[in-house]
Amino acid sequence: MMRRVIRMALVLAVSLAAASARAESAAAIFEKKCATCHGKDGKGHTKLGEKLGLTDLAAVSAPGRATPAADVEKIVRDGKGKMPGFKDKLSDAEIKELAAYVVAGLK
Ligand code: HEC
Repeated sequence: MMRRVIRMALVLAVSLAAASARAESAAAIFEKKCATCHGKDGKGHTKLGEKLGLTDLAAVSAPGRATPAADVEKIVRDGKGKMPGFKDKLSDAEIKELAAYVVAGLK
């Protein structure tokens, strides 16, 4: 019985650690590659963001205007309007994580 509890606690701890490492890497990529324009909080209140007339990235995850992660992946891969594509700079896995992070409201 005790062993089972310990094993369950271990499994839980390992999966929690994995989840937070994942979130951290998406956040780190966002900070490095996206925040120059979109700002750390995604609101676009940066010099470049204001020049480009960026709107709040939270709109992507707002109820009623949910952009599916696949669309965000495409935007990040190929770019959109004045936004450059990142397919040469990020791996597919990184783009996927990043899209999930953006769709979740930068969480
Ligand atoms: C050089 C500045 C710049 C950088 C760097 C940049 N973006 Fe953008 N982004 C833009 C612009 C400009 C738009 C608006 C494009 C349009 O609608 O014409 C945009 C639009 C978007 C949209 C669509 C928003 C919507 O409401 O439809 C998403 C999602 C997005 N960017 C995510 C990212 C992510 C993730 C990164 C980092 C990998 C990133 N961007 C890096 C400039 C940038």
